[in-house]
Amino acid sequence: MTVDRREYRDGGKISIDNPNDPLDLLSKWIQEARENGVIEPNSMSLATVDASGAPRNRMVLLKFLEGDEIGFFTNMESDKSVEIHALPFVSATIWWPEMERQVRIEGKASEMDRSKVEEYHSSRPRKSRIAAWASDQSRTLETREELLRKFEEIESEFEGKEIPLPPFWGGFRITLDRVEYWLGRPSRLHERVVLTRDADSWSEQRLYP
Ligand SMILES: Cc1cc2nc3c(=O)[nH]c(=O)nc-3n(C[C@H](O)[C@H](O)[C@H](O)COP(=O)(O)O)c2cc1C
Repeated sequence: MTVDRREYRDGGKISIDNPNDPLDLLSKWIQEARENGVIEPNSMSLATVDASGAPRNRMVLLKFLEGDEIGFFTNMESDKSVEIHALPFVSATIWWPEMERQVRIEGKASEMDRSKVEEYHSSRPRKSRIAAWASDQSRTLETREELLRKFEEIESEFEGKEIPLPPFWGGFRITLDRVEYWLGRPSRLHERVVLTRDADSWSEQRLYP
């Protein structure tokens, strides 16, 4: 396979205002990606490991960012949720090609409060809330018609009513221990800055690219 070699622009230096606010720059980068028209600027590839140690990843949307925690929403019986319940250590990567920026996070996931999940669920479009009920996420689906039939059944069951939060739907917050910022620069001399949680504060180091 031949692909063109890409020369990165000079994106400047990564500068961390306060390592004890480790997600401040992530929040700014998501905002700048949004302002630059990046599609799904809050999507991240989330890796979990199963009980035998085998890794697996998939995209999810980062929907919550506060202090040293981020969060996402999902079906609590999906493969990712089963894996997190068995082993809560996760890692995620966000890459915004248009910005030549990457962030990697590592931490421990735990279930989000139901009140937060309720709040998010009620903010979603009606059809997404119905789809949450209709999808037995990660389980085998014999035909697409079966999914469409389930969707229509739920739609008519709740006609004229609010769509409640499915008991099997929820969210995870990830309490972070490590956040790494990467920025493209010419000649492969990219910037890497990593923030690591120590006993009760965060420290900052630069890494070779
Ligand atoms: C851009 C993008 C965003 C996604 N966001 C979510 C999400 O926030 N939550 C979710 O459960 N699945 C999301 N998905 C679907 C997942 O990638 C995945 O297919 C699904 O969650 C099942 O994963 P699992 O079987 O490993 O649990 C998204 C997919 C894409 C491509």
